[in-house]
Amino acid sequence: MNVGVFIPIGNNGWLLSENAPQYKPTFELNKQITQEAERYGMDFALSMIKLRGFGGKTEFWDHNLETFTLMAGLAAVTSKIKLFATAASLVMPPAIVARMASTIDSISNGRFGLNLVTGWQRPEYSQMGMWPGDQFFSTRYQYLSEYIQVLRQLWETGHSDFKGDHFKMDDCRLSPQPQAPMKVICAGQSDAGMAFSAQYADYNFCFGKGINTPTAFKPAADKLIEATAQTGREVTTYVLMMVIADDSDEAAFAKWEHYKAGIDHEAVAWMAQQGAADTKSGGDTNVRQMTDPTTPSAVNINMGTLVGSYASVARMLDEMGEVPGTEGVLLTFDDFVTGVRAFGEHIQPLMKTRTHVDSPVPSRVRAEALAA
Ligand SMILES: Cc1cc2nc3c(=O)[nH]c(=O)nc-3n(C[C@H](O)[C@H](O)[C@H](O)COP(=O)(O)O)c2cc1C
Repeated sequence: MNVGVFIPIGNNGWLLSENAPQYKPTFELNKQITQEAERYGMDFALSMIKLRGFGGKTEFWDHNLETFTLMAGLAAVTSKIKLFATAASLVMPPAIVARMASTIDSISNGRFGLNLVTGWQRPEYSQMGMWPGDQFFSTRYQYLSEYIQVLRQLWETGHSDFKGDHFKMDDCRLSPQPQAPMKVICAGQSDAGMAFSAQYADYNFCFGKGINTPTAFKPAADKLIEATAQTGREVTTYVLMMVIADDSDEAAFAKWEHYKAGIDHEAVAWMAQQGAADTKSGGDTNVRQMTDPTTPSAVNINMGTLVGSYASVARMLDEMGEVPGTEGVLLTFDDFVTGVRAFGEHIQPLMKTRTHVDSPVPSRVRAEALAA
């Protein structure tokens, strides 16, 4: 199974809590995390795009770096790990994104790929006069379909004359083209989003669900398998999960309870208001679940969470890899610096699905074989 890290491009990572580690996003912090991840043999690092925060006492996500420029910097200071930036398709023309991707492909020597998003939070775009109107909620994947066709034409042929409803290219050129095939992630969860992934993406990222229910995301993986049966393309599932680990289950749960006790109600209320804004896609989105303020997990945006000892977390991560169609996980941590290190030192060595990894800390299987 592949393992990636969803690096903290926004302040405080993914915990809306006064009791969670409070930090601002910096290049130095993200460099440290990504270089550690690379050292332990993690496969990829992804950064999101977020253009407007949730406010509240913790000023949640009010402080965010920009994803392409961050990944370009990280490309220059890493050598093995794959890197993905997120294209805010509403505000970044595809010909520019194609060229930025080609540039980071050059900096990274073919280690770069893209996460494509339509956007779900209106103020991110309306604050700059770039929200096309709420009807966009229902047409967002038609728009993205045209967008990716332009990208693929430019990357693969260096040229596009694409003519659609949203984009009209006129002998548009791209050179240099990327040296490696450009891998594309979509994290669509709706029927339209999954259909898009099945048609155009290489990986579909879905939300993990619940606390210590590692395979509860299976319906999303099944939905992708059904969608790819229609298109005949190979697209795999990756699952977003938060890891809160410690020496013992009790110590890890104590941290989780502490974070929940410090929930930033104001930021959660803003998030819920944003999630409710989509009245146009007929409920065909999971943004409502993601932003549901009524569950205890609202404190981490209702992200699936693995809480426990290093051994418990390793076992649950292995279980995730057994779900058909699942190729990897994307991890967040309560504290990224200690979290990535704990993953590399204590969790990964116990995972059956990670025995192949080139890490300074050998897997238990390898260590036992060497000792025998
Ligand atoms: C791993 C992951 C990364 C995501 N990154 C972003 C992002 O950077 N910006 C954004 O606006 N939405 C992001 N999303 C939200 C998705 O793009 C998508 O809008 C959401 O999952 C709802 O799916 P739907 O559009 O099919 O309704 C992300 C979701 C996941 C699971």
